[in-house]
Formats: sequence, C-alpha cells, structure tokens
Amino acid sequence: MQIQEAELLISAPGKEQWPDTPYPEIVLAGRSNVGKSSLINALCGRKKLAYVGNTPGKTRLLNFFLLNRKLVFVDVPGYGYANISKQQLLRFGEMMEDYFHERKQKKALLLIVDGRHKPTDDDVTMLEFARYFELPIIIAATKMDKVKASQRQKQLKLISETLALSEEDHLIPCSSANKEGMDRLWEVILHYAQI
Ligand code: GTP
Ligand code: MG
Repeated sequence: MQIQEAELLISAPGKEQWPDTPYPEIVLAGRSNVGKSSLINALCGRKKLAYVGNTPGKTRLLNFFLLNRKLVFVDVPGYGYANISKQQLLRFGEMMEDYFHERKQKKALLLIVDGRHKPTDDDVTMLEFARYFELPIIIAATKMDKVKASQRQKQLKLISETLALSEEDHLIPCSSANKEGMDRLWEVILHYAQI
C-alpha cells in the first residue's frame, strides 16, 4: 500500500486514552532493538514516522498511527531489555492484556523478530497472548539482509520451530535496509484488515 497520509493519533498510557476510531488495527510488537521502528518506516515509505535507534525502555505507551485514514498501526513498546523493574513489567503485561482483551478493532498481530537469531521466550509469550485471543499471526523476520543466503532456510526453520508456527501463521522474511518482503507484508496486512 502506498501511504499518502500518516498521522500519530495518540501515545496512550492506558485504555482511557485509546482513540475512538472505527478503523481496523494491526498490532506491531517485538523485542527491544529488533528493528520495529525501521520496519514501520519502511512499510510506510517514511524516514521518521517512528523513531529509530532511540533509547529503549523509557516509555510504556501504545502509539496509534492512522494510515491513509483507513488503517491503524498500534506500535507496542519493545520488550525484553535488561533493567526493567518488576512494576514496569507488570504494567506492560496489563497494558497488553487490556488491549488484546478489550480492543474490538484488532485484526492481527505483526510480531517482528530478528532474522539472525532464535526468538526469545518473550516472543513466545507475546504469540501465546495472540493465540489465546485468536488473533491472526504474522511474523516478520527482519534484518534478513544480514543473513547469508546459505543460512537463510536454516534461520527461517529455527524461527518457525521456536515459535511453533502453524499452517495459518505467516512467516515473512524481510529487511528494512533493502525493502525485501514489504509487498508481501502489505498483502497479508491488508488481507486481515479487510480493506
Ligand atoms: P527500540 O524502539 O529501541 O526498541 O528499537 P526498534 O525495534 O524500533 O529498532 P530500530 O528500528 O530503532 O532499529 C534498531 C537498529 O537496527 C538500528 O540501528 C537500525 O538501523 C537497525 N536495523 C533495523 N532494521 C534493519 C534491517 O532490516 N537491516 C539492518 N541491517 N539493520 C536494521
Ligand atoms: Mg523503536
């Protein structure tokens, strides 16, 4: 999809601040520094819609981006970094549970993992959340430009097995650096958004 218009509706600390919008929502999550902001920017053809390379872990907010006035990306703060307090972790869990449980507009989880590495326990937990709420699952294995051609299949298999992906789940190799996989990602996103 060509993005003509992208607007940050709100950075919401809790459900009281969620925007009252009718648009389908795609939730984008991934561990800290995985390349989530870069992927959002690559998907939207923007250089700095979402921050790239900022200090992780400071803000625990859901960012709602409205695209072309018909689709919303919900940017989840990166998880899994060290030095998080128990209280912050709890707050994060509550925020996600509220969202998955109560937000009617949600259409799919786009989980971003690093194509070079085995997904973490936190990634598995996030997927289990989505499965529990029967949300369709799209995995973007990003930074594939850093994976040697000879290692590609092996890496994708490792990701698929670690996340116990099934037939209905989508695993899409991609790269924000060389834009691999962007068309395929959009195709699947638009399919679930039903627009
Ligand atoms: P936080 O918001 O800090 O948790 O990070 P993030 O997940 O938003 O990651 P971000 O997009 O800020 O990227 C982290 C680092 O990875 C930056 O140095 C990016 O330039 C780099 N990066 C992101 N995507 C790619 C990619 O597809 N290929 C390569 N080679 N580098 C990437
Ligand atoms: Mg980011």
